[in-house]
This record gives sequence, structure tokens and C-alpha cells, in this order.
Amino acid sequence: MIIRPATKADTTAFQDIMKSAISGICAAAYGAETVAAWTSDDNPAFHFRIPKFAFVAEENDEIIAVGGWSLTDQVDLHPVGDRVIEAPTHARINAVYIRPGFEGQGLGHKMVTHLEADITNQSDLRDIYLWSTKNAIPFYQAMGYTPGVDEYPEVALGYKVQVRYMWKRLG
Ligand SMILES: CC(C)(COP(=O)(O)OP(=O)(O)OC[C@H]1O[C@@H](n2cnc3c(N)ncnc32)[C@H](O)[C@@H]1OP(=O)(O)O)[C@@H](O)C(=O)NCCC(=O)NCCS
Repeated sequence: MIIRPATKADTTAFQDIMKSAISGICAAAYGAETVAAWTSDDNPAFHFRIPKFAFVAEENDEIIAVGGWSLTDQVDLHPVGDRVIEAPTHARINAVYIRPGFEGQGLGHKMVTHLEADITNQSDLRDIYLWSTKNAIPFYQAMGYTPGVDEYPEVALGYKVQVRYMWKRLG
């Protein structure tokens, strides 16, 4: 298994893994109806954007996990989008998604470790935060992230999901 930076050619595969991880792994936490609305191609409320610093894990030429982070200057639920961040204060982990069938094998751990190393290499930032899906909270806790408040973003029209603020200061 290798982890490498994502390229433009990976965009569809990256988004497919995000969607299939939500459908396949987050369904137990949020229910089938919610994840179906969330990942629907017709969903205007949620865009599966590729983070600024994006990576894919590949095995036998197949992408089996994705991850990414971005620079932010605010602790906010909503991604900064295309706004230029002149004085970043935090690194935000936007995406860690494992292809269903490959979870529980240490891939998520390797991806988060890779993102943390990349944050250290690419920036002076040491404060990381993310909004964890309900199912992933124990995973991030096992990786040293401290849980904070819950929020309920609307991921599709009429569908709100619980996510938890989690943070870590790199040593
Ligand atoms: C959450 C997710 C990224 C975890 O990745 P993974 O490859 O399954 O996790 P790993 O096998 O690397 O587990 C790493 C650690 O977390 C723990 N862990 C993982 N999932 C857990 C769970 N549901 N409950 C308790 N502990 C868990 C493991 O025990 C392991 O701890 P250890 O290193 O001390 O043994 C993956 O399941 C996934 O893609 N979920 C769907 C998408 C999603 O929710 N992404 C997060 C968006 S914020």
C-alpha cells in the first residue's frame, strides 16, 4: 500500500470513495435514508470537494482510501471554500474515508498519520481540528484527538447529522 498525493485524474475516484464510505460505513450511525440523501447525485446541499492537500492510498493500482487537509483561519463548521487564507491558524482535516471492506485494518490510522506529517512538513501549524462523523469519534480519540461540541449540519435538504468537533495539538 502506498499513500501519494491525489491528482486531477483521481477526482472521480476520490469522490466515489467519500460517497461509498458514507453509504457503507456511516449508514449504521445515521440510517440508510439519511446517507442515501447525503450521497445522492442530486443533492444540492453538499459538494464533495477535494481538499487542498489531498492524498490517496493505493494497492494493486486501486484506490482504497482517501484523505486530505486544508489551511484555515477560523474554527468553523463550514469549509473556507475558495477564500484565500493569508494567515492560517489551524490545519483542518477535511476528509478521511476508507473504501467499505477495507475498514478496521489500520488504513485510517496510516492516513491520519500521513496527514499529520504533511501538516508538519508543509506548515508551521500545530493546531488541527476536524468535524468527526458519529461513527468515527472513537477512531479519532484513539489517534489522540480531544472531543468537543456537537453540531448538526444539514447534509441534504431536511437531513441533519450529528458531527463532533475534535482537536489535537501536534507535539
Ligand atoms: C472512520 C474511519 C476513517 C476509520 O478508519 P479505519 O481504517 O477503519 O480505522 P483503523 O483500522 O485505522 O483504526 C485506527 C484506530 O481506531 C480504532 N477504531 C477505529 N474505528 C473504531 C470504532 N468504530 N470504534 C472504536 N475504535 C475504533 C481502532 O481500534 C484503532 O485503534 P488502535 O490503533 O489503538 O488499534 C473509517 O472507518 C471510515 O472511512 N469511515 C467512514 C467515513 C468516515 O466516517 N470518515 C470520517 C469523516 S470525519
